[in-house]
Amino acid sequence: MATASPATFTQAAQVLADGHLVAFPTETVYGLGGDAGSDQAVAAIFAAKGRPNFNPLIVHVLDEAAAEPLVHLDERARRLIEFYWPGPLTLVLPRRADAPLSLLVSAGMDTVAVRSPAHPVARALLAASGRPVAAPSANRSGHVSPTSPLHVAEEFPEGGGARLKLIVAAGRCGIGVESTVLDLTGPVPLLLRPGSVTKEELESVLGPVDVAGAKDGIKAPGMMTSHYAPGLPVRLGATSVAEDEALLAFGPDAFLRGGAMRMNLSPKGDLAEAASNLFAMLRALDRPGLSGIAVMPVPEQGLGAAINDRLRRAAAPR
Ligand code: TXA
Ligand code: MG
Repeated sequence: MATASPATFTQAAQVLADGHLVAFPTETVYGLGGDAGSDQAVAAIFAAKGRPNFNPLIVHVLDEAAAEPLVHLDERARRLIEFYWPGPLTLVLPRRADAPLSLLVSAGMDTVAVRSPAHPVARALLAASGRPVAAPSANRSGHVSPTSPLHVAEEFPEGGGARLKLIVAAGRCGIGVESTVLDLTGPVPLLLRPGSVTKEELESVLGPVDVAGAKDGIKAPGMMTSHYAPGLPVRLGATSVAEDEALLAFGPDAFLRGGAMRMNLSPKGDLAEAASNLFAMLRALDRPGLSGIAVMPVPEQGLGAAINDRLRRAAAPR
């Protein structure tokens, strides 16, 4: 682990150039990065995560100009980029035939997901490396995503099969849930994963947006039902808590007593605060000896859609 600094960025760029992996912070969650142009590096990401190879990766770029050689940007993409890049919005677009990317990042599809992160450390790393960086969340496949460097170290105690050479540490991630993923390959934009750029915000720029459902399984290969799962079972919509359960509360009306452990996503009922605490609290409450994690209802509006999406997957049958 190394604290973010110019020397660390130079070292990280070298690790990426060598085809090895670097974990780094973004404004959403920590990513497990590798050179998106290298089959060896991209294969190492899949192997370190234990990720099924039909689940494609997000390619991180500094800006629109860096996305240009990778994907076909249409008018809708350009408008969204103007509003939301750099930031937590990932766009799925047609892959250019001559894109200098490993075929593995697309998992056999003819599309690529691109995103320009806003976190200054992610940007410094992209600038130093000068190459597109494939980076899924830096957790083992199916686990809770990491929002601090310690979470990353917990996920990969043996250095991710020795390929993870460096964790660039820069404290907690501000947003705390992964980027919004929007598919722009069809006539109507399709929301594949809710995030902090909300459906309402996207519609204010683009007009109507569809939300991916079961019928879109092939377009959204990564949206397996069980995901973000702690070790303990998760029970949603809790209105009471058992003595041997942990309670994940939300808002000022949190139950007065009960539960073996208690944490509150946001005592004042603020959804942005709740999102930033979500994964860290799920990890902290995941203690042996308890029967499960009881989660109080979180309102569905705004960022609540992204929070509830993650909670539903955490609670889904494994
Ligand atoms: O906030 C984020 O997006 C974080 C940080 C590190 O940038 N990254 C992240 O990556 O969440 P990952 O791999 O955990 O999630 C990527 C999601 C998956 O659901 C994947 O299936 C989807 O994006 N995806 C990637 N490429 C795609 C493609 N070509 N078509 C459809 N979905 C794609
Ligand atoms: Mg992930």
